[in-house]
Amino acid sequence: MVNRITELLRKMSIAEKIAQLSQLSADYFQEDGVTLTGPTGKQQVTSEELHSVGSVLGISGAERARKIQKNYLQHSRLKIPLLFMADVVHGYKTIFPIPLGLASSFDSELVEETAKIAAKESASAGLHAIFAPMVDLVRDPRWGRVMESNGEDPFLNGSLATASIKGFQGCVTDRFDENHVAACVKHFAAYGAAEGGREYNTVDMSEWQFRDQYLEGYQRAIETGARLVMTSFNTLFGVPATANEHLMRTILRKELKFDGILISDWNAIGELKEHGVASSQTDAAVKALKAGVDMDMMSFAYFELAQKLEKEGQVPQEIIKLLDESVYRVLKLKEELGLFEDPFRGMDLLKEEENVLTEDNLKIAQKAAEESTVLLENKDNLLPLKPDTKITLCGPLVRERDLLGSWSWKGNTTKNETIADALQNKFKGVTVFDEDLAEGTLDLNVLKQKTADSEVVIVALGLKSYQSGEATSMTKPRLPKKQLNFLKALNETGKKIVTIIITGRPLVLTEVSKFSDALLLPWFPGSRGAEAIANIITGEVNPSGKLPMSFPRDIGQIPLYYNSLRTGRPLTGSDNLDKENKYLSKYIDEENSHLYCFGYGLSYADFKVKKVQLVDKQIAKNGELNLKVEVANESHIDGQTVIQCYTHQCVAETAQPDRELKMFKKIMLKANEAKVIDICIPVTRLAYTHQDLTKKVDCGNYVLYVGFAADTKRKISFEII
Ligand code: NOJ
Repeated sequence: MVNRITELLRKMSIAEKIAQLSQLSADYFQEDGVTLTGPTGKQQVTSEELHSVGSVLGISGAERARKIQKNYLQHSRLKIPLLFMADVVHGYKTIFPIPLGLASSFDSELVEETAKIAAKESASAGLHAIFAPMVDLVRDPRWGRVMESNGEDPFLNGSLATASIKGFQGCVTDRFDENHVAACVKHFAAYGAAEGGREYNTVDMSEWQFRDQYLEGYQRAIETGARLVMTSFNTLFGVPATANEHLMRTILRKELKFDGILISDWNAIGELKEHGVASSQTDAAVKALKAGVDMDMMSFAYFELAQKLEKEGQVPQEIIKLLDESVYRVLKLKEELGLFEDPFRGMDLLKEEENVLTEDNLKIAQKAAEESTVLLENKDNLLPLKPDTKITLCGPLVRERDLLGSWSWKGNTTKNETIADALQNKFKGVTVFDEDLAEGTLDLNVLKQKTADSEVVIVALGLKSYQSGEATSMTKPRLPKKQLNFLKALNETGKKIVTIIITGRPLVLTEVSKFSDALLLPWFPGSRGAEAIANIITGEVNPSGKLPMSFPRDIGQIPLYYNSLRTGRPLTGSDNLDKENKYLSKYIDEENSHLYCFGYGLSYADFKVKKVQLVDKQIAKNGELNLKVEVANESHIDGQTVIQCYTHQCVAETAQPDRELKMFKKIMLKANEAKVIDICIPVTRLAYTHQDLTKKVDCGNYVLYVGFAADTKRKISFEII
């Protein structure tokens, strides 16, 4: 392998090396040739540059990819195949629930399975590498990209990051098999902490906080073997990530030992000028190279550097060394993907038709949607509904076909069932009421008349697909006013109400929860989302989703997350409005607590933790916490739930959260079944960041909380010796 790469490196000119480090968008490549002008007509690239470019983003489809690769190779001097990349975030054509939804399944195996399918579909459509998973830890629902994340907890995030890398890449040793693709972990680093939840904004946090809470997701993805990492748009520790030598050279390369490709986000190198840390494109290019950024996605700064170097006629040794290192990494990935032997890897139309959007894949998409749906309220056990229940179906999303959510560019919304279709297939007595939500048209008498014959009203509310994802920051994460007024009016009819909330982010649902008897959160559930919702409403599927992000009571509480650090004046009672105790860390107009906490989600079954036993209560630093948890399903219905284990360190060297998730296990219990579940938590999981920024475990006293949500009360003490 090394020989071929060394040989190529020897043959490549500086301009060819720099082009190999550049990624251009699909607009530059046509099946019958290559366009020389950029999408905006602004950025011209020469024919030589284009035919030595290293990678293209956003092209897929076996036929098209094959033609483009063929054309490219015909014109390219060294015939190094193009690397095809694209955003496959929650499925290629078979669309799974959005990642935040999938995280609600608390099921690493399922997440791995969905990633495996996404990889196979992508590889069959000619893609070699994908821009996923996003493992930015998130705490602010104003940021639209929380939909792409695994939520607010470092351990859950890290566990699901590992699962997706395994699914996307398979077990690569030095060769990828034809059904897998290389994964690109993003956005390094801490992009989820953009100030005010505003897209592309600054992040300012201590290195201690970064290492203690934000690093784990990236670290575990890299340890699992992720081949690419993407830089984030934001500033961190005062320097934009794309030029941040400490972040990239010291933390990413040296400490995390990442030796794959570091690619910039779209135009992030060029944006170093806007950040005010580079004077020109070429200055930005040198800064990015020095920070260790191998590939330039769409800023053309690397091309401009090549032109400058050519004019100057002399290339500094330092730059040559940096370029060689980066080109080596790019060629190594191409080698691992087998592109030198077969530049047309996966570009086979028949195979694409065989592998993409199959019924088997769709079945997994449905299972994933079922397991990702969170039941938030179920007053008087209104759900599930009997098949002969008379239902009025309404709300602006009841006939919505796009339940896919953002980042599903290959998903087809025309074939999906709507919630109305799926419920009409299940219940005989369904009337769909297509109300007009325009202001002032909500007449109670009309509503009463429309719902008169029904026992239950099912209303689908929420946000549209384009209201989540990149560039969708929002100051008010809540339902549109018209929808809330509609729900209030429905409530006045006196009918039982089941509310379905479609969303890519936590919303303030305080009033919605009051006006709903049952409240169901399928997020954006994907290709088979409507069928999954219907199965839950009928009880064919018992909901088991748990929240990966806290839901606030009020916008003013944001950021609100269960694992915030302890303060010197904690709220001891539950009542913030207690005037006697004014000088505590609290609000005078709202409670501190969430509306729905991390890990929360109801079931139709009644699960109880009966007993928690620690095999040893004194455990060595290099040991394991072994516990036996007796769980019972005290109901007449089978179901799944998630046992969650949180630890509390009584005294630590640096401030720590009151509790933090250290293990979770999804289990299935039959009706009236009880089981003892063995859980093992390696003590290394209790390591936290000390003042010297190293992570280690302390001896001392701890409390272990076990239950079905982050606010569980059941606890047991132990000691690390
Ligand atoms: C910008 C986004 O931030 C990133 O996540 C995505 O992968 C790239 N664009 C490529 O589409």
